[in-house]
Amino acid sequence: MGWLEVTTNFFRRIFLGLFELLHIPTAEWIIGIPLEIKYNIFSKLKFGRFSAQSQIDQYVEKFKAKRKQSRLQQKGDEEMGGVDGILPKPVAIVTGASSGIGYETAKALVEAGFCTVLACRNESAAVNAIHMINKNRKDIEDPDAGVCEFMELDLTSFSSISKFIYTFKAKYDRLDVLVNNAGLAGSPYNTTTEGIEIHFGTNHIGHFILTNGLLDMLKTTSIEFADGINNNPRIIIVASAVHYDVTYDKELVTDRSKYKPFKNYQFSKLANVMYANELSRRLYEEDSKNKVTVNSLHPGIVYTNATRHFSMVKYAVIRALCLALFLHPRAGALTTIKLALSDEVNDISGKYFERGLELAPSKIAQDQENWSDLWLFTEELIASNSA
Ligand SMILES: NC(=O)c1ccc[n+]([C@@H]2O[C@H](COP(=O)([O-])OP(=O)(O)OC[C@H]3O[C@@H](n4cnc5c(N)ncnc54)[C@H](OP(=O)(O)O)[C@@H]3O)[C@@H](O)[C@H]2O)c1
Repeated sequence: MGWLEVTTNFFRRIFLGLFELLHIPTAEWIIGIPLEIKYNIFSKLKFGRFSAQSQIDQYVEKFKAKRKQSRLQQKGDEEMGGVDGILPKPVAIVTGASSGIGYETAKALVEAGFCTVLACRNESAAVNAIHMINKNRKDIEDPDAGVCEFMELDLTSFSSISKFIYTFKAKYDRLDVLVNNAGLAGSPYNTTTEGIEIHFGTNHIGHFILTNGLLDMLKTTSIEFADGINNNPRIIIVASAVHYDVTYDKELVTDRSKYKPFKNYQFSKLANVMYANELSRRLYEEDSKNKVTVNSLHPGIVYTNATRHFSMVKYAVIRALCLALFLHPRAGALTTIKLALSDEVNDISGKYFERGLELAPSKIAQDQENWSDLWLFTEELIASNSA
Protein backbone atom coordinates (compact mmCIF):
# COMPACT_ATOMS: atom_id res chain seq x y z
CA MET A 1 0.00 0.00 0.00
CA GLY A 2 1.22 3.51 -0.77
CA TRP A 3 1.89 6.63 1.31
CA LEU A 4 -1.71 7.85 0.82
CA GLU A 5 -3.14 4.76 2.57
CA VAL A 6 -0.44 4.82 5.26
CA THR A 7 -0.94 8.50 6.11
CA THR A 8 -4.76 8.29 6.00
CA ASN A 9 -4.72 5.33 8.40
CA PHE A 10 -2.16 7.10 10.59
CA PHE A 11 -4.43 10.12 11.05
CA ARG A 12 -7.45 7.86 11.45
CA ARG A 13 -5.68 5.97 14.24
CA ILE A 14 -4.79 9.21 16.04
CA PHE A 15 -8.29 10.65 15.78
CA LEU A 16 -10.00 7.41 16.76
CA GLY A 17 -7.78 7.19 19.84
CA LEU A 18 -8.41 10.83 20.74
CA PHE A 19 -12.17 10.57 20.39
CA GLU A 20 -12.22 7.37 22.38
CA LEU A 21 -10.20 9.06 25.12
CA LEU A 22 -12.67 11.94 25.20
CA HIS A 23 -15.64 9.51 25.09
CA ILE A 24 -17.07 11.21 22.01
CA PRO A 25 -19.18 8.60 20.19
CA THR A 26 -19.53 10.33 16.82
CA ALA A 27 -15.96 10.10 15.56
CA GLU A 28 -17.07 8.61 12.24
CA TRP A 29 -19.22 11.57 11.20
CA ILE A 30 -16.86 14.26 12.42
CA ILE A 31 -13.53 12.75 11.45
CA GLY A 32 -13.85 9.38 9.75
CA ILE A 33 -16.03 10.36 6.82
CA PRO A 34 -14.26 13.67 5.98
CA LEU A 35 -10.91 11.86 6.18
CA GLU A 36 -12.17 9.13 3.85
CA ILE A 37 -13.59 11.63 1.37
CA LYS A 38 -10.23 13.40 1.35
CA TYR A 39 -8.55 10.03 0.69
CA ASN A 40 -11.02 9.30 -2.13
CA ILE A 41 -10.35 12.64 -3.82
CA PHE A 42 -6.56 12.34 -3.53
CA SER A 43 -6.49 8.77 -4.78
CA LYS A 44 -8.69 9.66 -7.75
CA LEU A 45 -6.55 12.70 -8.56
CA LYS A 46 -3.39 10.61 -8.33
CA PHE A 47 -4.50 7.39 -10.01
CA GLY A 48 -7.72 8.23 -11.88
CA ARG A 49 -11.26 6.87 -11.60
CA PHE A 50 -10.31 3.23 -10.97
CA SER A 51 -7.71 4.44 -8.47
CA ALA A 52 -6.73 0.96 -7.22
CA GLN A 53 -6.40 -0.75 -10.60
CA SER A 54 -2.60 -0.96 -10.67
CA GLN A 55 -2.44 -2.36 -7.12
CA ILE A 56 -5.13 -4.92 -7.97
CA ASP A 57 -3.17 -5.91 -11.09
CA GLN A 58 -0.10 -6.45 -8.94
CA TYR A 59 -1.93 -8.77 -6.52
CA VAL A 60 -3.42 -10.70 -9.46
CA GLU A 61 -0.10 -10.99 -11.32
CA LYS A 62 1.80 -12.08 -8.20
CA PHE A 63 -0.81 -14.75 -7.48
CA LYS A 64 -0.65 -16.00 -11.08
CA ALA A 65 3.15 -16.15 -10.87
CA LYS A 66 2.85 -18.17 -7.66
CA ARG A 67 0.55 -20.64 -9.40
CA LYS A 68 2.96 -20.92 -12.32
CA GLN A 69 5.83 -21.52 -9.92
CA SER A 70 3.82 -24.19 -8.17
CA ARG A 71 3.15 -25.89 -11.52
CA LEU A 72 6.86 -25.84 -12.43
CA GLN A 73 7.66 -27.31 -9.06
CA GLN A 74 5.11 -30.05 -9.65
CA LYS A 75 6.52 -30.80 -13.09
CA GLY A 76 9.93 -31.16 -11.45
CA ASP A 77 8.46 -33.59 -8.92
CA GLU A 78 6.90 -35.58 -11.78
CA GLU A 79 10.24 -35.93 -13.52
CA MET A 80 11.62 -37.23 -10.26
CA GLY A 81 8.80 -39.80 -10.35
CA GLY A 82 6.63 -37.95 -7.86
CA VAL A 83 3.20 -36.31 -8.13
CA ASP A 84 1.24 -36.58 -11.37
CA GLY A 85 -1.75 -34.77 -12.83
CA ILE A 86 -2.61 -31.09 -13.34
CA LEU A 87 -2.77 -28.62 -10.52
CA PRO A 88 -6.36 -28.02 -9.53
CA LYS A 89 -7.72 -24.50 -9.68
CA PRO A 90 -8.21 -22.74 -6.38
CA VAL A 91 -11.89 -22.22 -5.59
CA ALA A 92 -13.56 -19.09 -4.24
CA ILE A 93 -17.08 -18.08 -3.26
CA VAL A 94 -18.13 -14.43 -3.36
CA THR A 95 -21.55 -13.63 -1.92
CA GLY A 96 -23.44 -10.74 -3.53
CA ALA A 97 -21.14 -10.77 -6.56
CA SER A 98 -23.76 -9.51 -8.99
CA SER A 99 -22.89 -5.84 -8.41
CA GLY A 100 -20.63 -3.32 -6.71
CA ILE A 101 -17.68 -4.45 -4.61
CA GLY A 102 -18.60 -8.14 -4.89
CA TYR A 103 -18.61 -8.01 -8.69
CA GLU A 104 -15.14 -6.38 -8.80
CA THR A 105 -13.84 -8.93 -6.29
CA ALA A 106 -15.15 -11.87 -8.34
CA LYS A 107 -13.65 -10.36 -11.51
CA ALA A 108 -10.17 -10.09 -9.93
CA LEU A 109 -10.36 -13.65 -8.56
CA VAL A 110 -11.28 -15.01 -11.99
CA GLU A 111 -8.36 -13.06 -13.47
CA ALA A 112 -6.09 -14.60 -10.84
CA GLY A 113 -7.16 -18.10 -11.99
CA PHE A 114 -9.81 -19.01 -9.42
CA CYS A 115 -12.84 -21.07 -10.09
CA THR A 116 -15.16 -18.41 -8.69
CA VAL A 117 -18.71 -19.07 -7.55
CA LEU A 118 -20.96 -16.02 -7.69
CA ALA A 119 -23.34 -16.69 -4.81
CA CYS A 120 -26.28 -14.43 -5.58
CA ARG A 121 -30.04 -14.34 -5.12
CA ASN A 122 -30.81 -12.75 -8.47
CA GLU A 123 -29.98 -15.13 -11.32
CA SER A 124 -30.31 -12.69 -14.21
CA ALA A 125 -28.09 -10.11 -12.47
CA ALA A 126 -25.49 -12.83 -11.77
CA VAL A 127 -25.59 -14.11 -15.37
CA ASN A 128 -25.12 -10.56 -16.58
CA ALA A 129 -22.16 -10.16 -14.19
CA ILE A 130 -20.60 -13.36 -15.59
CA HIS A 131 -21.08 -12.05 -19.13
CA MET A 132 -19.34 -8.79 -18.14
CA ILE A 133 -16.45 -10.64 -16.45
CA ASN A 134 -15.86 -12.85 -19.49
CA LYS A 135 -16.23 -10.03 -22.02
CA ASN A 136 -12.92 -9.14 -23.70
CA ARG A 137 -10.96 -11.77 -21.79
CA LYS A 138 -7.89 -12.89 -23.72
CA ASP A 139 -7.04 -15.86 -21.48
CA ILE A 140 -10.27 -17.79 -21.96
CA GLU A 141 -8.54 -20.63 -23.93
CA ASP A 142 -5.75 -20.96 -21.34
CA PRO A 143 -6.23 -24.12 -19.22
CA ASP A 144 -4.91 -22.19 -16.21
CA ALA A 145 -7.40 -19.35 -16.63
CA GLY A 146 -10.06 -18.72 -14.05
CA VAL A 147 -13.71 -19.53 -14.60
CA CYS A 148 -16.90 -18.38 -12.93
CA GLU A 149 -20.36 -19.72 -12.36
CA PHE A 150 -23.60 -18.72 -10.64
CA MET A 151 -25.04 -20.58 -7.66
CA GLU A 152 -28.23 -19.39 -6.05
CA LEU A 153 -27.97 -18.06 -2.50
CA ASP A 154 -30.52 -15.95 -0.66
CA LEU A 155 -29.09 -15.04 2.72
CA THR A 156 -32.54 -14.19 4.08
CA SER A 157 -33.61 -17.84 3.92
CA PHE A 158 -32.20 -20.71 5.99
CA SER A 159 -33.32 -23.25 3.40
CA SER A 160 -31.64 -21.37 0.55
CA ILE A 161 -28.37 -21.26 2.53
CA SER A 162 -28.56 -25.02 3.29
CA LYS A 163 -29.28 -25.75 -0.36
CA PHE A 164 -26.31 -23.64 -1.43
CA ILE A 165 -23.95 -25.45 0.97
CA TYR A 166 -25.23 -28.83 -0.24
CA THR A 167 -24.91 -27.92 -3.94
CA PHE A 168 -21.46 -26.40 -3.50
CA LYS A 169 -20.12 -29.41 -1.59
CA ALA A 170 -21.57 -31.80 -4.16
CA LYS A 171 -19.71 -30.03 -6.95
CA TYR A 172 -16.40 -28.95 -5.42
CA ASP A 173 -13.85 -30.68 -3.24
CA ARG A 174 -11.97 -27.59 -2.06
CA LEU A 175 -12.61 -24.04 -0.91
CA ASP A 176 -9.69 -21.61 -0.77
CA VAL A 177 -11.39 -18.25 -0.33
CA LEU A 178 -14.81 -17.38 1.06
CA VAL A 179 -15.77 -13.73 0.68
CA ASN A 180 -18.78 -12.75 2.78
CA ASN A 181 -19.56 -9.60 0.84
CA ALA A 182 -23.35 -9.45 0.31
CA GLY A 183 -25.15 -6.89 2.37
CA LEU A 184 -28.02 -4.50 2.52
CA ALA A 185 -28.13 -1.09 4.18
CA GLY A 186 -30.80 1.31 5.39
CA SER A 187 -33.81 -0.81 4.46
CA PRO A 188 -37.26 0.03 5.88
CA TYR A 189 -38.27 -2.44 8.62
CA ASN A 190 -38.48 -5.96 7.27
CA THR A 191 -37.63 -9.48 8.37
CA THR A 192 -35.99 -12.51 6.83
CA THR A 193 -38.08 -15.56 5.86
CA GLU A 194 -37.61 -16.86 9.41
CA GLY A 195 -38.66 -13.55 10.98
CA ILE A 196 -35.29 -12.04 12.00
CA GLU A 197 -34.64 -8.30 11.55
CA ILE A 198 -33.48 -7.94 7.95
CA HIS A 199 -30.02 -6.27 8.40
CA PHE A 200 -28.86 -8.60 11.16
CA GLY A 201 -30.53 -11.56 9.44
CA THR A 202 -28.88 -10.97 6.06
CA ASN A 203 -25.54 -9.37 6.86
CA HIS A 204 -24.66 -11.40 9.94
CA ILE A 205 -26.87 -14.47 10.50
CA GLY A 206 -27.00 -15.56 6.84
CA HIS A 207 -23.21 -15.41 6.61
CA PHE A 208 -22.81 -17.07 10.03
CA ILE A 209 -24.78 -20.13 8.84
CA LEU A 210 -23.03 -20.17 5.47
CA THR A 211 -19.51 -19.91 6.91
CA ASN A 212 -20.03 -22.42 9.71
CA GLY A 213 -21.53 -24.82 7.15
CA LEU A 214 -18.46 -24.54 4.91
CA LEU A 215 -15.84 -24.57 7.67
CA ASP A 216 -15.07 -28.31 7.38
CA MET A 217 -14.24 -27.81 3.70
CA LEU A 218 -11.98 -24.83 4.37
CA LYS A 219 -10.14 -26.89 6.98
CA THR A 220 -9.65 -29.93 4.72
CA THR A 221 -8.49 -27.69 1.85
CA SER A 222 -5.52 -26.58 3.93
CA ILE A 223 -4.55 -30.20 4.58
CA GLU A 224 -5.46 -32.07 1.40
CA PHE A 225 -4.51 -29.36 -1.08
CA ALA A 226 -1.32 -27.99 0.40
CA ASP A 227 -0.17 -27.40 -3.19
CA GLY A 228 1.63 -24.11 -2.73
CA ILE A 229 -1.20 -22.10 -4.30
CA ASN A 230 -2.95 -21.07 -1.17
CA ASN A 231 -1.94 -22.82 1.98
CA ASN A 232 -4.12 -20.57 4.07
CA PRO A 233 -7.78 -20.93 3.17
CA ARG A 234 -9.20 -17.50 3.87
CA ILE A 235 -12.52 -16.19 5.15
CA ILE A 236 -12.95 -12.51 4.36
CA ILE A 237 -15.82 -10.60 5.92
CA VAL A 238 -16.81 -7.27 4.39
CA ALA A 239 -17.83 -5.20 7.40
CA SER A 240 -17.78 -1.40 7.63
CA ALA A 241 -16.28 1.53 9.52
CA VAL A 242 -19.82 2.41 10.62
CA HIS A 243 -19.31 -0.25 13.32
CA TYR A 244 -17.26 2.33 15.28
CA ASP A 245 -20.39 4.34 16.09
CA VAL A 246 -22.76 1.76 17.51
CA THR A 247 -23.11 0.16 20.93
CA TYR A 248 -23.59 -3.57 21.47
CA ASP A 249 -27.36 -3.44 21.99
CA LYS A 250 -29.05 -6.72 21.04
CA GLU A 251 -32.49 -5.12 21.49
CA LEU A 252 -31.93 -3.39 18.15
CA VAL A 253 -32.61 -6.86 16.72
CA THR A 254 -35.23 -8.16 19.15
CA ASP A 255 -37.25 -4.99 19.88
CA ARG A 256 -38.95 -3.57 16.80
CA SER A 257 -39.71 -0.26 18.55
CA LYS A 258 -35.95 0.42 18.66
CA TYR A 259 -35.57 -0.09 14.90
CA LYS A 260 -33.68 2.59 12.99
CA PRO A 261 -32.57 1.60 9.47
CA PHE A 262 -29.04 2.97 9.67
CA LYS A 263 -28.45 2.04 13.32
CA ASN A 264 -29.52 -1.53 12.60
CA TYR A 265 -27.17 -1.63 9.61
CA GLN A 266 -24.36 -0.41 11.88
CA PHE A 267 -25.17 -3.12 14.42
CA SER A 268 -25.03 -5.82 11.74
CA LYS A 269 -21.59 -4.53 10.68
CA LEU A 270 -20.38 -4.55 14.30
CA ALA A 271 -21.53 -8.18 14.39
CA ASN A 272 -19.48 -8.86 11.22
CA VAL A 273 -16.28 -7.64 12.90
CA MET A 274 -17.00 -9.47 16.18
CA TYR A 275 -17.91 -12.71 14.40
CA ALA A 276 -14.63 -12.63 12.42
CA ASN A 277 -12.69 -12.17 15.66
CA GLU A 278 -14.56 -14.88 17.55
CA LEU A 279 -14.36 -17.41 14.70
CA SER A 280 -10.63 -16.79 14.40
CA ARG A 281 -10.25 -17.26 18.18
CA ARG A 282 -12.26 -20.50 18.13
CA LEU A 283 -10.28 -21.92 15.20
CA TYR A 284 -7.04 -21.18 17.04
CA GLU A 285 -8.36 -22.65 20.29
CA GLU A 286 -9.43 -25.81 18.47
CA ASP A 287 -6.02 -26.23 16.83
CA SER A 288 -3.25 -23.69 17.17
CA LYS A 289 -1.70 -24.99 13.92
CA ASN A 290 -4.97 -24.43 12.04
CA LYS A 291 -4.37 -22.70 8.69
CA VAL A 292 -7.77 -21.13 8.07
CA THR A 293 -7.67 -17.35 8.56
CA VAL A 294 -10.61 -14.99 9.19
CA ASN A 295 -10.39 -11.23 8.78
CA SER A 296 -12.84 -8.36 8.41
CA LEU A 297 -12.55 -5.07 6.55
CA HIS A 298 -14.04 -1.73 5.61
CA PRO A 299 -14.02 -1.24 1.81
CA GLY A 300 -14.12 2.57 1.95
CA ILE A 301 -16.98 4.86 1.01
CA VAL A 302 -17.94 3.43 -2.33
CA TYR A 303 -20.61 4.45 -4.84
CA THR A 304 -22.68 1.29 -5.39
CA ASN A 305 -26.27 0.06 -5.36
CA ALA A 306 -25.99 0.00 -1.56
CA THR A 307 -27.29 3.57 -1.56
CA ARG A 308 -30.64 2.45 -3.03
CA HIS A 309 -32.57 2.78 0.27
CA PHE A 310 -31.27 6.27 1.04
CA SER A 311 -33.88 8.78 -0.14
CA MET A 312 -31.34 11.60 -0.74
CA VAL A 313 -29.83 9.63 -3.64
CA LYS A 314 -32.93 10.25 -5.76
CA TYR A 315 -31.67 13.80 -6.43
CA ALA A 316 -29.37 14.04 -9.46
CA VAL A 317 -27.09 16.52 -7.74
CA ILE A 318 -26.54 14.14 -4.79
CA ARG A 319 -25.83 11.30 -7.22
CA ALA A 320 -23.28 13.46 -9.05
CA LEU A 321 -21.62 14.33 -5.72
CA CYS A 322 -21.48 10.65 -4.75
CA LEU A 323 -19.93 9.81 -8.10
CA ALA A 324 -17.28 12.47 -7.61
CA LEU A 325 -16.51 11.95 -3.93
CA PHE A 326 -16.99 8.21 -3.39
CA LEU A 327 -14.66 5.47 -4.58
CA HIS A 328 -15.36 3.42 -7.70
CA PRO A 329 -16.36 -0.18 -6.70
CA ARG A 330 -13.07 -1.43 -8.16
CA ALA A 331 -11.14 0.67 -5.66
CA GLY A 332 -13.59 -0.47 -2.99
CA ALA A 333 -12.62 -4.08 -3.71
CA LEU A 334 -8.89 -3.50 -3.14
CA THR A 335 -8.72 -4.58 0.51
CA THR A 336 -10.83 -7.70 -0.14
CA ILE A 337 -8.59 -8.63 -3.08
CA LYS A 338 -5.43 -8.10 -1.02
CA LEU A 339 -6.81 -10.30 1.77
CA ALA A 340 -7.73 -12.99 -0.78
CA LEU A 341 -4.55 -13.05 -2.83
CA SER A 342 -1.58 -11.53 -1.10
CA ASP A 343 1.19 -13.41 0.69
CA GLU A 344 1.55 -10.33 2.90
CA VAL A 345 -1.41 -11.55 4.97
CA ASN A 346 -0.48 -15.23 5.19
CA ASP A 347 -1.24 -16.46 8.71
CA ILE A 348 -2.85 -13.14 9.76
CA SER A 349 -6.20 -13.81 11.38
CA GLY A 350 -8.75 -12.08 13.60
CA LYS A 351 -7.77 -8.63 12.33
CA TYR A 352 -9.67 -5.68 10.87
CA PHE A 353 -8.45 -3.79 7.77
CA GLU A 354 -9.05 -0.43 6.10
CA ARG A 355 -7.37 0.68 2.84
CA GLY A 356 -5.47 -2.62 2.79
CA LEU A 357 -3.87 -1.99 6.18
CA GLU A 358 -4.59 -3.35 9.62
CA LEU A 359 -6.43 -1.04 12.02
CA ALA A 360 -7.81 -1.56 15.52
CA PRO A 361 -11.59 -1.98 15.38
CA SER A 362 -13.82 -0.21 17.93
CA LYS A 363 -13.25 -0.94 21.63
CA ILE A 364 -16.62 -2.75 21.70
CA ALA A 365 -15.53 -4.97 18.82
CA GLN A 366 -12.30 -5.81 20.67
CA ASP A 367 -14.13 -7.09 23.77
CA GLN A 368 -13.90 -10.91 23.85
CA GLU A 369 -16.91 -11.20 26.17
CA ASN A 370 -19.00 -9.46 23.50
CA TRP A 371 -17.72 -11.91 20.87
CA SER A 372 -18.83 -15.00 22.76
CA ASP A 373 -22.08 -13.34 23.79
CA LEU A 374 -22.81 -12.53 20.13
CA TRP A 375 -22.09 -16.15 19.15
CA LEU A 376 -24.54 -17.46 21.75
CA PHE A 377 -27.16 -14.83 20.84
CA THR A 378 -26.82 -15.80 17.15
CA GLU A 379 -27.17 -19.52 17.86
CA GLU A 380 -30.22 -18.87 20.05
CA LEU A 381 -31.87 -16.70 17.38
CA ILE A 382 -31.24 -19.37 14.74
CA ALA A 383 -32.63 -22.11 16.99
CA SER A 384 -35.70 -20.15 18.05
CA ASN A 385 -36.51 -19.12 14.49
CA SER A 386 -35.94 -22.50 12.86
CA ALA A 387 -39.07 -24.39 11.93
N1 LIG B 1 -20.64 0.95 -0.58
C1 LIG B 1 -20.06 1.34 0.54
O1 LIG B 1 -19.71 2.53 0.71
C2 LIG B 1 -19.81 0.37 1.65
C3 LIG B 1 -19.19 0.85 2.81
C4 LIG B 1 -18.94 -0.06 3.84
C5 LIG B 1 -19.30 -1.39 3.70
N2 LIG B 1 -19.93 -1.80 2.55
C6 LIG B 1 -20.29 -3.25 2.46
O2 LIG B 1 -19.83 -3.75 1.23
C7 LIG B 1 -20.61 -4.90 0.86
C8 LIG B 1 -20.97 -4.83 -0.61
O3 LIG B 1 -21.86 -3.76 -0.80
P1 LIG B 1 -21.88 -2.85 -2.09
O4 LIG B 1 -21.57 -1.47 -1.65
O5 LIG B 1 -21.08 -3.44 -3.19
O6 LIG B 1 -23.45 -2.87 -2.43
P2 LIG B 1 -24.30 -3.56 -3.62
O7 LIG B 1 -23.79 -3.14 -4.93
O8 LIG B 1 -25.71 -3.28 -3.26
O9 LIG B 1 -23.98 -5.10 -3.42
C9 LIG B 1 -24.58 -5.86 -2.43
C10 LIG B 1 -24.77 -7.26 -2.95
O10 LIG B 1 -25.36 -8.04 -1.89
C11 LIG B 1 -26.43 -8.74 -2.46
N3 LIG B 1 -27.45 -9.12 -1.49
C12 LIG B 1 -28.24 -8.31 -0.74
N4 LIG B 1 -29.09 -9.05 -0.01
C13 LIG B 1 -28.84 -10.35 -0.31
C14 LIG B 1 -29.39 -11.58 0.09
N5 LIG B 1 -30.42 -11.65 0.94
N6 LIG B 1 -28.88 -12.72 -0.41
C15 LIG B 1 -27.87 -12.69 -1.29
N7 LIG B 1 -27.31 -11.57 -1.73
C16 LIG B 1 -27.80 -10.40 -1.25
C17 LIG B 1 -27.00 -7.83 -3.51
O11 LIG B 1 -27.83 -8.55 -4.39
P3 LIG B 1 -29.18 -7.88 -5.01
O12 LIG B 1 -28.68 -7.02 -6.12
O13 LIG B 1 -29.97 -9.06 -5.43
O14 LIG B 1 -29.81 -7.08 -3.91
C18 LIG B 1 -25.71 -7.33 -4.14
O15 LIG B 1 -25.21 -8.24 -5.08
C19 LIG B 1 -21.81 -4.91 1.80
O16 LIG B 1 -21.60 -5.87 2.81
C20 LIG B 1 -21.79 -3.51 2.41
O17 LIG B 1 -22.35 -3.48 3.71
C21 LIG B 1 -20.19 -0.96 1.52
